[in-house]
Amino acid sequence: MSATAELIHRPEGSDGGSQLGHPATGELDLSHGVALYLENITVSFDGFRALNKLNLAIDDGELRCIIGPNGAGKTTMMDVITGKTRPDRGKAFFGQTIDLTRLTEAEIAHAGIGRKFQKPTIFEQHTVFENLELAMKADKRVWKTLFAWLSGDERDRIADTLRQIRLDREADRPAGLLSHGQKQWLEIGMLLVQEPKLLLLDEPVAGMTDDETMRTAELFVSLAGKHSLVVVEHDMAFVEKLGGKVTVLHEGSVLAEGSLASVQNDQRVIEVYLGR
Ligand SMILES: Nc1ncnc2c1ncn2[C@@H]1O[C@H](COP(=O)(O)OP(=O)(O)OP(=O)(O)O)[C@@H](O)[C@H]1O
Ligand SMILES: [Mg+2]
Repeated sequence: MSATAELIHRPEGSDGGSQLGHPATGELDLSHGVALYLENITVSFDGFRALNKLNLAIDDGELRCIIGPNGAGKTTMMDVITGKTRPDRGKAFFGQTIDLTRLTEAEIAHAGIGRKFQKPTIFEQHTVFENLELAMKADKRVWKTLFAWLSGDERDRIADTLRQIRLDREADRPAGLLSHGQKQWLEIGMLLVQEPKLLLLDEPVAGMTDDETMRTAELFVSLAGKHSLVVVEHDMAFVEKLGGKVTVLHEGSVLAEGSLASVQNDQRVIEVYLGR
């Protein structure tokens, strides 16, 4: 079977997500293309299964939320996608052809998967603008020395990103002086200047004010379409504002998938997560 044919094959145990536009025929809707495809991913740590036959398919341009109790395997799933953790078994494809299980972490980043960790890793003594400039120059596709001048296009891209992350007025301030939320946005901007196809965001609004949380939701909604986003979050007001399809992980597999309203009404989800 060709890689494409395998990808069209619907993984067992998936409900097809029929409420949100997928045909209920048991096949993936390929009209948008698949950005990320995980099938039967299993990861064990000393015999404990952190991921257990996990299936997940993310469309091009989709904004997907992943929720679930502590220890469900959400971060481990991101570790598998980014090559930090190798699965014991299962398939992981980026697009239809890139086999993530065969690439190094650096190759995966280069292929267009950007990941934001919880703790921002910005350069505090540099200005906001310089942080974006350094991130752009660290991108191997750009291949510039740190001392090279930026082209007009690159300056424009940084200016656009500054507006997107609402830091255009802070461009010349040292990043260390930003609020916690602004630092998180700057780190997202540092990913965006590298123009990733897929962005993975693990608890991006932890520690943010309510206002910052809602602004972050607006930012993510505006990024969808151009990028695919996979967002892990516990904050349900934020998940609701994002408005995308929600996948509930529990004990390393998908427990439920669909609109937020549908998973919130799912008795199994209430028992293991929302009802706590
Ligand atoms: N490197 C590791 N070695 C051993 N066990 C691990 C390792 N990484 C994760 N685990 C275990 O795997 C399980 C899943 O962890 P993971 O961090 O993926 O959960 P999570 O869904 O991200 O939880 P949280 O909501 O608390 O962030 C947990 O029981 C965790 O203790
Ligand atoms: Mg986690």
